[in-house]
Amino acid sequence: MSATELRVAEIKHTHWNSEVYEPSDDTFLLVDALQEHAPTWAKRRPRCVLELGSGSGYVITSAALLLRQLRPRLAAQVLAVDHSPAAAEATRRTLQAHQVSEVDVVVASLFGPLAERLKGSVDVLLFNPPYVPTPDDEVERGGIASAWAGGHRGRRVIDRVLPLLPELLSPKGELFMVTVTENDPKGIIAEMQPHGFQGRIAASRQADEETLSIVHLWRG
Ligand SMILES: C[S@@+](CC[C@H](N)C(=O)[O-])C[C@H]1O[C@@H](n2cnc3c(N)ncnc32)[C@H](O)[C@@H]1O
Repeated sequence: MSATELRVAEIKHTHWNSEVYEPSDDTFLLVDALQEHAPTWAKRRPRCVLELGSGSGYVITSAALLLRQLRPRLAAQVLAVDHSPAAAEATRRTLQAHQVSEVDVVVASLFGPLAERLKGSVDVLLFNPPYVPTPDDEVERGGIASAWAGGHRGRRVIDRVLPLLPELLSPKGELFMVTVTENDPKGIIAEMQPHGFQGRIAASRQADEETLSIVHLWRG
């Protein structure tokens, strides 16, 4: 099956409200990159897939649907984490609307209590972070602003996650992360090289007020 024939989540079955990030250009670019990449999972056989900051659930539902279409069928553990209870509830509703029952949804900040248990076992990490440059005191202030407020260079939350990757990802682990130009996506790839990662820009798109890029990192 070619990448474009693979089914992803449908916006008409996706739930969000004023407290939850609405699927936007960044969300769709991340899913486009996953759809393009998913045929390689037939060989890589990921066993643990996790989305950090699942919001409406559009991305993790798409990932679960893509995994289902692999042949032979794969029994992967699929997890969605968000620190917002409203987002976790939206994720659950979106999964349910797509008849996807194999995803566990957890309310936690970053990896929370999962961090220890997941050490060295995450094969695919998906992350559309709060990446918008803002004053630092807007980061994680609560409410919907925590979905997008990224502090200095939009890097405050991103820079808490990157140092966790060497411990968190499995030997075949990979990360797909949304960035904008201000986050310095090529610089992120260069910064992770001394920690044993290779990287590329998997997709780019000019959106209304930002240039989006998907950073794809994997162990070299
Ligand atoms: C840009 S939104 C992306 C939502 C969804 N993944 C998408 O692509 O449409 C960022 C999400 O990360 C969540 N988030 C922000 N900081 C977080 C943290 N420290 N731990 C867990 N989730 C966080 C927000 O609640 C929000 O749902």
